[in-house]
Amino acid sequence: MRILGIAGSLREGSYNRALLRAARELLPDGVELEELDLRTLPFYDADVEAAGDPEPVVALKEAIRDADALLIATPEYNRGVPGVLKNAIDWASRPPLASPLTGKPVAIMGASTGRGGTARAQEQLLSALEFSRASALEQPEVLVPEAYMRFDEHGELVDGAVRAELAELVDTLVRVADGVTLAA
Ligand code: FNR
Repeated sequence: MRILGIAGSLREGSYNRALLRAARELLPDGVELEELDLRTLPFYDADVEAAGDPEPVVALKEAIRDADALLIATPEYNRGVPGVLKNAIDWASRPPLASPLTGKPVAIMGASTGRGGTARAQEQLLSALEFSRASALEQPEVLVPEAYMRFDEHGELVDGAVRAELAELVDTLVRVADGVTLAA
């Protein structure tokens, strides 16, 4: 099984990229997580799209199509989803009824230095994924507030409670991607 990890932060020392790395360590045998690089993605432009998806967009859509599931780690910028991540969702949501997001199992999580732990960004992200017809998990929630207290200087997750929540999220995503229907 292949999971595509997407972090909504480009910076090297990103807590959200560190969260993806921590998730990778919790995957069962036979499940791989590859991180997508959003650095080269252009801004969504319907004229550019009409002329044909640029190469980074083709690569984004292929990576999503090839993955059994997505795991998205979002920061929160000004109470919302960072532009770099929203832009990727916007490209990936096209064309509307046949996009690579359609029916794709997606789990979301996020780390912020604020006390809300990306709750508002995750709400927006969930809404965008639902509109894009992805199969996004609403639970379990992984909200990581005051991220500087949860990771050490090497970007290692050192908070046991967050690790346990992350393990539950990863387990749920793998089971859903494997075709298990979860009880309501
Ligand atoms: C932030 N940050 C932030 N944090 C938060 O909890 N709520 C918010 O609304 C915002 N807004 C915000 C806007 C902008 C433009 C920046 C750059 C930052 C702080 C943010 O949580 C912090 O920078 C994280 O470390 C970003 O995630 P990465 O890059 O560590 O993954």
